[in-house]
Amino acid sequence: MHLSSLFSIAMLSLSMTSALPTNLTNFLLVTTSQLNPSANTSELKAVSATSLFNPFHQPALLLRLTGPGYGSLPNFTLADGTLSTLAAAPFGSTMYTYNSTRVTAGKELQFLASEQTGGNLALDDGYLLTVDGQREGWTICEGALSNEVLSWRGDTSGCVNTYVHAVLKAPY
Ligand SMILES: *[C@@H]1O[C@H](CO)[C@@H](O)[C@H](O)[C@H]1NC(C)=O
Ligand SMILES: *[C@@H]1O[C@H](CO)[C@@H](O)[C@H](O)[C@H]1NC(C)=O
Ligand SMILES: *[C@@H]1O[C@H](CO)[C@@H](O)[C@H](O)[C@H]1NC(C)=O
Ligand SMILES: *[C@@H]1O[C@H](CO)[C@@H](O)[C@H](O)[C@H]1NC(C)=O
Repeated sequence: MHLSSLFSIAMLSLSMTSALPTNLTNFLLVTTSQLNPSANTSELKAVSATSLFNPFHQPALLLRLTGPGYGSLPNFTLADGTLSTLAAAPFGSTMYTYNSTRVTAGKELQFLASEQTGGNLALDDGYLLTVDGQREGWTICEGALSNEVLSWRGDTSGCVNTYVHAVLKAPY
């Protein structure tokens, strides 16, 4: 590749990044096959919104892909390597701050209604969700009741690689 085209790619990604809001204190998470951000989240490749998933009223909430027609989407904050979101506890309507647990290979991204330490998540360039600084490794795998669930380095058959972006606007 010519240096000039490398330069235009760099300029393109710079201008795309600067089009994004830098203050992501309260964001949605979407999955996409695209590394670079898009000012219009609807235009991200193979984009999907995500919502919390707790099919069997277990303590840990997971994140699943959600198509159009949802009621609302969870929003997140990120501090000290840990994602937080408000959600109702199983079998109740009391809302708790759910915190992500330390992400490990072969496991779903999980949230518990308790304080968490040792969080290893971050937002690269203000939008790309990483684990221990690694951008690649998120997978979409088939979970309970044929739902598509987000995991880190999922190794069951049929898992598909994805990126996870923090965005301000739902793609649909
Ligand atoms: C980001 O937004 C939050 C909430 O709106 C605000 O409290 C905070 O001051 C903002 N931070 C910056 C650096 O703009
Ligand atoms: C975002 O992209 C979608 C799909 O291409 C388009 O329908 C929509 O009008 C765009 N929204 C804005 C604000 O440009
Ligand atoms: C975030 O989600 C909570 C719980 O659904 C909601 O009450 C709150 O208004 C949302 N905040 C923003 C900024 O969308
Ligand atoms: C989640 O973590 C936050 C920040 O450490 C903490 O304030 C909150 O109490 C935790 N949630 C629960 C239900 O313990």
